[in-house]
Amino acid sequence: MADETLATLQQQAHTRQTIEQNITQLFAPEDEGLRHALTAAKAAGLPPIQISPIQGKLLQLLATLCNARKILEVGSLAGYSGIWLARALPASGRLLTLEIDAKHAEVVRNSFATAGVADRTEVRVGKALDLLPTLESEAPFDLVFIDADKPPYPQYLEWALRLTRPGSIIVADNTIRGNRLLDPAQVTDPIEKAIAQYNKNVAQNPRLQSLALAMDDDFTDGFTIAVVRHEE
Ligand code: SAH
Ligand code: DHB
Ligand code: MG
Repeated sequence: MADETLATLQQQAHTRQTIEQNITQLFAPEDEGLRHALTAAKAAGLPPIQISPIQGKLLQLLATLCNARKILEVGSLAGYSGIWLARALPASGRLLTLEIDAKHAEVVRNSFATAGVADRTEVRVGKALDLLPTLESEAPFDLVFIDADKPPYPQYLEWALRLTRPGSIIVADNTIRGNRLLDPAQVTDPIEKAIAQYNKNVAQNPRLQSLALAMDDDFTDGFTIAVVRHEE
């Protein structure tokens, strides 16, 4: 590659990074509570795979937009995304977050308390596919955020559809993952296949209005956002 082209690409990457930093600083700054969640996660040896501040702010905006009173999260990690979501709730609102790992759940509960959202949050420990069928009496949820293990994403979508109402929003993380928007029939890797199937199911579901949005720092991953349509 010509040196000049390489320099231009590096400059563009640098510009994108600076834009992301500036948007974060202006629109999605982290407070003590969010920073504590990250520090606690690191101290406990959890992997740093939480959403970005901009994604957190987008979740918050979406929750506000659908007037969320009840939010369901699948995959809590250290509570970082949960804090962003819980802060969009009124005092009487509720975020229920599902987490398979009891150690993670312990970190989450501490992080929620430090961030001042313990009163409106609940962590349930277990395998999401075992817990989701127990939630029907607590439905409908106004927003569902899917961010746990990837192979069951299509099943998580089925549950999200059962547990929501017209006007609810269903968001999934990591649905682009370096262009995994392929035809699910063409791929065998279980993660690729599941993500491709998730996107296809969302895009083709007449009950949903949806968009995948590349929005991480190098535009290779992001959210698929879907709104449950009102009946005609
Ligand atoms: N939403 C978090 C990141 C979640 S990472 C944030 O952005 O802050 C994925 C989490 O899902 C991990 O904590 C992992 O332990 C959990 N997880 C993995 N498989 C799961 C399953 N089958 N059921 C519930 N949680 C699961
Ligand atoms: C992984 C999981 C995530 O939810 C994510 O946002 C990034 C990475 C992972 O399992 O590696
Ligand atoms: Mg994720």
